[in-house]
Amino acid sequence: MKNVLIVGSGGREHTLAWKLNQSSRVGQIYVIPGNAGTAEIAENIDIDILDFAKMADFAENNNIYMTFIGPEKPLVYGIVDYFKKRRLNVFGPNQEAAKLEGSKVYAKHIMEECGIPTARFSVFTEVKNANKYVENCNFPTVIKAEGLAAGKGVIIVNNKKEAKAAIKKIMENRYFGEAGRRVVIEEYLNGEEATIMVFADGQTYYPMVSAQDHKQVGEGDTGPNTGGMGAYAPTPLVTDEIKNKVDKNILNPLFDYLKKNNLDFKGVLFLGLMIKNGEPKVLEFNVRFGDPEAQVVLPLLENDLLQVAEKINQNKLKEVTLRWKSSKAMAVILASGGYPIEYEKGKTIKGLDEFNNSDNLFVIQAGTKVKGDSIITDGGRVLALVALGDSYQSIYDRCYDNIGKIYFADAYYRKDIGHRLKGVNLLKNE
Ligand code: AMP
Ligand code: GLY
Repeated sequence: MKNVLIVGSGGREHTLAWKLNQSSRVGQIYVIPGNAGTAEIAENIDIDILDFAKMADFAENNNIYMTFIGPEKPLVYGIVDYFKKRRLNVFGPNQEAAKLEGSKVYAKHIMEECGIPTARFSVFTEVKNANKYVENCNFPTVIKAEGLAAGKGVIIVNNKKEAKAAIKKIMENRYFGEAGRRVVIEEYLNGEEATIMVFADGQTYYPMVSAQDHKQVGEGDTGPNTGGMGAYAPTPLVTDEIKNKVDKNILNPLFDYLKKNNLDFKGVLFLGLMIKNGEPKVLEFNVRFGDPEAQVVLPLLENDLLQVAEKINQNKLKEVTLRWKSSKAMAVILASGGYPIEYEKGKTIKGLDEFNNSDNLFVIQAGTKVKGDSIITDGGRVLALVALGDSYQSIYDRCYDNIGKIYFADAYYRKDIGHRLKGVNLLKNE
């Protein structure tokens, strides 16, 4: 039996633990730092996820066979290179490849060089040049901090005044810290958003089933962006025709470029796509599983995740055939009232026991922790209720018939996850 370590504390990491726990070859699972959900199937270890030396010591001392990195920050800061130097087996891209997420300027330049469809863009290092540019650009337009900003570094602006305020916030006030040393100002794209995540070993890449996240806090996609309020998979927006275009126009040229430039991409590449009139364009690359996409895509994967990861690390992904359940999956996030602006923590969560023993309805925890005999809230996105079923209607009904059984003070959830399915006539119009 193999011991595994997962780095991170959110819903994505609980899903990774849940999935690895189903492998007949996985022994003890450890999570750094984990949450109350991972504590039920793994041992949580309290180490800072940027303290690479301490985590590597832990992996050495506990006979860890493989370490899975959940969030982008340790990847972009080079955890994979560090673990490899210490001869530890680790799943994820190295620091150079992780720049696809760590620097939007880098990602945009690669897309430009490969001819990958994406929004037209300009890069600015000086406030005055950025301000001059927005004097004459079309609105709405999109202003992005170059670096990591926990999903919040993208500001959509409707006029010159808003644009200058966004430039000031990012570049002058350094609201997102060093991430704001440069800005990308890009064309606003409309259409339907979808996610495609890809397993890659540097030679072979295999797309997973598609998904759709719901980033905004309010129903009907209104209000500020969050880490994601719910998701479902697969999404019918990603038709076979779109899949072929993604392969031909995006993945093929990208992986060719990476190979030619000795950028060995091993792990999971995430494509954030905007689809309009049947044409997919790239909004962003991430270099890890999406959250909450992982919560709906991994439950549909039939393969043993440990084996897929092993094959990737041995450059043998081509020996794997990915197998997917024919079911559909939906996750509805239960968040703390006030999230993503201002919210309280420490509320006792009740009703979780109802969801212990089902394969088609279960809870994935995120911002939770154990306090005495209780589980309390410890973050903005608290947990996800995940349903699997044969139809979109069945997963929607299963989520919404049951989410009310989980309770904590000021709990909030969107009541319309999957609402875009109505446009394709898969959910009843209310
Ligand atoms: P990103 O982190 O680059 O994916 O941006 C976060 C969110 O901002 C995306 O999921 C989109 O909803 C939105 N967004 C980003 N870039 C654009 C764009 N060029 N046009 C329209 N919306 C965008
Ligand atoms: N769901 C988008 C992300 O994980 O960044």
